Amino acid sequence: MHIHKYEKWWLTFGAAMLIAFLVIVGVSAFHGGTHPNNSKWTINYEKVDEIAPFDNPGVHKVEGKDWDYEVVLVASAFSYNPMEIEIPVGSKVRFIATTKDVIHGFEVAGTNINFMLEPGYVSEKITTVDKVGEYVIVCNEYCGTGHAMMYSTLKVVDADDNSNSH
Ligand code: CUA
Repeated sequence: MHIHKYEKWWLTFGAAMLIAFLVIVGVSAFHGGTHPNNSKWTINYEKVDEIAPFDNPGVHKVEGKDWDYEVVLVASAFSYNPMEIEIPVGSKVRFIATTKDVIHGFEVAGTNINFMLEPGYVSEKITTVDKVGEYVIVCNEYCGTGHAMMYSTLKVVDADDNSNSH
């Protein structure tokens, strides 16, 4: 069978692209830790305010767990509760988050904290905040007219400053 020269080039190009994209997806999944949300924790999104721990959103210091802080976060069009999160640097934090209405995003700009909030599901992420700074939290899923106004702040503060402030 005769295959035209240009046809061969295109076949080679197509096969090379396929391999390149599979490698990119593979590296980002297994090395970069990029995964679709696989939360098995479900919730009635219409009753989020009544269901623990979401009946008490905020930053909570915890004892006797593998992490130091729990951030219970409720998103709704078009804001986050709490509006501001303050954590001492070096703390291990468990984010527990959900939404009361549509899909929202939770991206802490400049970090690898980035997850989707889906109605009916609870998203979790355990991470260590290891750099002092003020980080902007943005919604990165288009959620309606107020989408661009939906943001919050993560303040990672010096542990000393925090204890001296009281
Ligand atoms: Cu919430 Cu976009």
